[in-house]
Amino acid sequence: MKKTVLVSGGAGFIGSHVTVELAQAGYDVVIADNFSNCDETNYKGVCAILGRQMPLVRMDFCDAAAVEALFAKYPIDAVIHFAAFKAVGESVAEPLMYYRNNLLSFVNILEAARKKGCNVLFSSSATVYGETDQLPVTEASPRQPATSPYGNTKQMCEDILRDSVKAYPGVRGIALRYFNPIGAHPSALIGELPRGVPNNLVPFITQTAVGKRECLSVFGNDYPTPDGTCLRDYIDIVDLAKAHVCAVTRMCEGRMKEDYEIFNVGTGRPLSVLELINAFERVNGVKLNWKFAPRRAGDVVAIWADPTRAEQELGWRAERSIDETVKAAWAWEKKLAGK
Ligand code: UD1
Repeated sequence: MKKTVLVSGGAGFIGSHVTVELAQAGYDVVIADNFSNCDETNYKGVCAILGRQMPLVRMDFCDAAAVEALFAKYPIDAVIHFAAFKAVGESVAEPLMYYRNNLLSFVNILEAARKKGCNVLFSSSATVYGETDQLPVTEASPRQPATSPYGNTKQMCEDILRDSVKAYPGVRGIALRYFNPIGAHPSALIGELPRGVPNNLVPFITQTAVGKRECLSVFGNDYPTPDGTCLRDYIDIVDLAKAHVCAVTRMCEGRMKEDYEIFNVGTGRPLSVLELINAFERVNGVKLNWKFAPRRAGDVVAIWADPTRAEQELGWRAERSIDETVKAAWAWEKKLAGK
């Protein structure tokens, strides 16, 4: 029998790509989103890729009654929770907004999952590892105290999931710790759509290349790395989405070894900011206007994943090359600009 997966925040960047991969793998998917941080572009793109109208519920996961009604309406086997605020700087300025939204929505989902006895996948982040000199990081690497309320909500939600799984029979949970998700679907029908000035590197690169921004600032050139810029593990968004299919299938088929499991989702390959810029320029044949700027507060020097556990347990590994990824990111930005 077909399983049904609820994707909260399914109209966003990661949620839309995950919806496509789940549907293509044979799952029924229900998308729920309050459209507080996106418009319908990605939702329409998902429907265009899949060739059908996907079920869409407009709702806020902070509304407990609405969450309950949603779970009553659909035969949900697993829920993947993306619906959360994600801007680090904004979370420092508005901590209560972040704690209210990101924690309450997850508590509501877990309450509903508890009543129904269903599986829960939480979208966590490598930010939980903080600054570390044990690289690459494994899932056993210690978490560091969060440096922003955003990062704190990721840690707290992991703990809320762990404790809920322990207390409530029938609820199992997986936390996926993403490294730096970038790129877009090869169809160029869905991709990243930041509101206002992008915080993250790749949308800033593509917007500069397309002429929406004048110049990219590379934050810091004096880090203790080979070229002086920070090292990150940039993971292709389609590869990342496929990790969710593997994790949901493991949950739905009862193949989990523990009732709460954590997996890193990264490539295991560190790349510097300059290496990423060079790849973008080389692959796409564009010249990027960039300059060095002071370090950005809160940035860690280097972090990349040890993805061994995901390979062994989920049977997943990143497959797309950085060239394919930056090509897709550029195709998406050009499409948005009508070029
Ligand atoms: C950030 C968040 C992380 C979140 C992730 C989502 C922190 C410290 N980081 O990761 O929690 O999950 O976004 O994708 O909480 N850079 C520039 N110029 C720019 C933008 C970025 O040089 O205009 C550099 C940064 O200094 C960094 C690298 O590019 O070295 C990647 O930055 P970014 O894309 O913002 O991701 P992270 O900060 O790694």
